[in-house]
Amino acid sequence: MADTAIDMRDISMSFNGVEVLKKINFTLRRGEIMGLIGKNGAGKSTLLKIIEGLYTPVSGQINIFGREIGKNVSAAERAGTVAMIFQDFSLIPDMTVVENIFLNNEPTSAAIIDDKACRRKVEEFFTRYAVKIDPGEKIKNLSTSDMQMVEISKAIIREKKIILMDEPTAALEAEQVEKLFEIIGRLKAEGYSIVLISHHLKEIMRICDSVTVLCDGIASLSKPTPASTRSSWRCSGRRCRRSGATRSHSGVRTPPPSSGPRASPPRTEASPSPSACSRARCWAWSASRARARPNS
Ligand SMILES: Nc1ncnc2c1ncn2[C@@H]1O[C@H](COP(=O)(O)OP(=O)(O)OP(=O)(O)O)[C@@H](O)[C@H]1O
Ligand SMILES: [Mg+2]
Repeated sequence: MADTAIDMRDISMSFNGVEVLKKINFTLRRGEIMGLIGKNGAGKSTLLKIIEGLYTPVSGQINIFGREIGKNVSAAERAGTVAMIFQDFSLIPDMTVVENIFLNNEPTSAAIIDDKACRRKVEEFFTRYAVKIDPGEKIKNLSTSDMQMVEISKAIIREKKIILMDEPTAALEAEQVEKLFEIIGRLKAEGYSIVLISHHLKEIMRICDSVTVLCDGIASLSKPTPASTRSSWRCSGRRCRRSGATRSHSGVRTPPPSSGPRASPPRTEASPSPSACSRARCWAWSASRARARPNS
């Protein structure tokens, strides 16, 4: 299987004649956790909904594991590969955890739903990921973080390899965020590819391998987040500094003189770029959001 989980080329999207995504190029590797950031209305959710198949872009090409959607990847195959976890969960409150996880996807035995097999699969999964939720509990009795865990369990038990999370930490307490990050770390180790939208730059820098910044419908920056950079970004308007390195308006990082060869080269986008100042503003905005949340 290809090492690239998702490759999007020149993706454009409009609503009512208003262009919200402009020739976006976007690559997610297998086993990569990518953070997607940008101000409100930048097009983050729209981009994920295009990957998931909820929206069809006006133009552009999407490849999943090296195969093109619409050409040699069917809608059903895409649905079997990509899961999106929305902020508003798609769970049915009066049904149990197991029932929700297998809804419309129940294993059957002689055309009868095999309840025991369903429960066994959920219990195995919960044991493996140290999830402490009663599989027989109704969704309406769960906490927000437990509901989110059920959504993630649903995606993984259904063997989706690409998981898109739209602001998964927005409604969580600090402790619940830690639990979520622990599970995301395990998923990464098992080769899942994850895109995570967050308004909290510190979270992104802490757990993501790379970050893409959307600014006015353009991917203005896309690059790795080496371990040494995590949680230590500062932005001073015209220049963003990190660990002695500088980020110029071109979006390309200049390493400090003492640094050795990079494990992976910085990724820059071939998309049309906004003005240099516009790009710096986006980054400054993201940095200020990160500072605004002391516990993240
Ligand atoms: N279904 C839709 N119909 C019309 N306009 C839409 C639709 N979905 C999104 N938009 C518009 O597209 C733009 C991008 O929206 P999107 O939800 O992708 O932004 P976002 O980056 O996720 O913002 P936020 O951080 O607030 O969630 C916005 O101007 C939004 O109003
Ligand atoms: Mg959104």
